[in-house]
Amino acid sequence: MFILLSSLGALVLIVFASLFIISGVFEKPKYLEPWDKTYEQKFDDPRIRLVACGLLAANGHNMQPWKVKLDKRNPMAFYLYADSDRITDKVDPDSRQMMITQGTFLEYVKIAGEETGYQTAIKLFPEGLYNEKSLVESMKNKPVAKVTLTKEKPQSNPLYASIFLPDTNRSAYQPTKLTTGQINQLEHINGDAKLSVEIYQDKKNMDKLSDYAIKAAVIEAGVNRVMKESEIIFRANEYQKNKYRYGFSVDGQGTTGIMLGIKQGLVTLFPSLNKGKAASDLFIQSTRASVDSTPAYALIISKDNSRSSQVKSGMLYSKLILTAQKLGIVMQPLSQSLEEYPEMKDPYNHIHHDYAPGGGTIQMLVRLGKPIKKASQSMRRDVMDLIISE
Ligand SMILES: Cc1cc2nc3c(=O)[nH]c(=O)nc-3n(C[C@H](O)[C@H](O)[C@H](O)COP(=O)(O)O)c2cc1C
Repeated sequence: MFILLSSLGALVLIVFASLFIISGVFEKPKYLEPWDKTYEQKFDDPRIRLVACGLLAANGHNMQPWKVKLDKRNPMAFYLYADSDRITDKVDPDSRQMMITQGTFLEYVKIAGEETGYQTAIKLFPEGLYNEKSLVESMKNKPVAKVTLTKEKPQSNPLYASIFLPDTNRSAYQPTKLTTGQINQLEHINGDAKLSVEIYQDKKNMDKLSDYAIKAAVIEAGVNRVMKESEIIFRANEYQKNKYRYGFSVDGQGTTGIMLGIKQGLVTLFPSLNKGKAASDLFIQSTRASVDSTPAYALIISKDNSRSSQVKSGMLYSKLILTAQKLGIVMQPLSQSLEEYPEMKDPYNHIHHDYAPGGGTIQMLVRLGKPIKKASQSMRRDVMDLIISE
């Protein structure tokens, strides 16, 4: 009996050890280096230092679709381009989320600039707007923004420290509602007359918004090309995470510690666990779990849906996340009902009818609340991968 038990114990140990090795848990996670507060200090050029902070911003599908051209004539200026090689056009056919993602980056640059002694003048679309008929070409040729730095006295920015915290928390939140003071602080971060932040936590709106989120997740789970787009950028283990440094991974769903090693080992050995029907079911299940543990929702709404308003909505979203972090509140976007592909038309129209009457566009729908569990930092590329030559 004793021999049988100890052989069983040894077998279990071997299985776990194998899963950990397959998962690559003993690899150094190079993809986390940019999160280190001292990372940017490795660079002499203040522009690269600020770009290293921008790189930490929230971004659609963690594609990090940013390209930066340093101005050769002005050592204090750079251009931000949307990286058209990193488009996710199945889920984001109009590249709206792509533009929001340019804005999240710019706000991080601005805040980091203030803290480290650089005022940043941000001019959107300095060489004119995109030609929508040849969007990809336009993204290659026309910058989203020109950022010009001016040296000034560093000013402590209360939001700066939160740049180094994970932006997205997909775990369960506490049921505690936000206080009126917290709602006021979050709703009043916006100073742009064309944008608004609206927070809902009453039962009627909670039920309605949760219902939109679930219905939209069910639709998305059934759209093969959209699910495939996410599947392709899923990094199953530490080796892949270090190789690609962008996309999704197991830890993004809130798995940590020993379970992370086990799950990564399992999806590496059995990729079907995260593909096709299994992935669709998991997506619906996790959306249900998310909305069931959500005390409040926030919407960012713009009066028009111009490219500039999309970028500015991203800037506002970064400010919203960072302000929320200061208040001990975390967020997760639930973007599905806002997406423009044909199968999503019904929820898209209904949610806009209910929450943006009069022709506005809902740029972001996010759940928010006090976390039960900390989120993990997600993969980030090396900052020098973003820099392109003239
Ligand atoms: C425009 C936009 C849309 C997003 N939509 C979703 C979403 O629908 N669901 C989700 O879980 N995260 C969403 N995110 C969060 C990103 O997936 C996340 O920022 C990225 O994976 C990097 O992770 P981090 O924010 O924790 O650093 C979105 C982010 C942006 C900027």
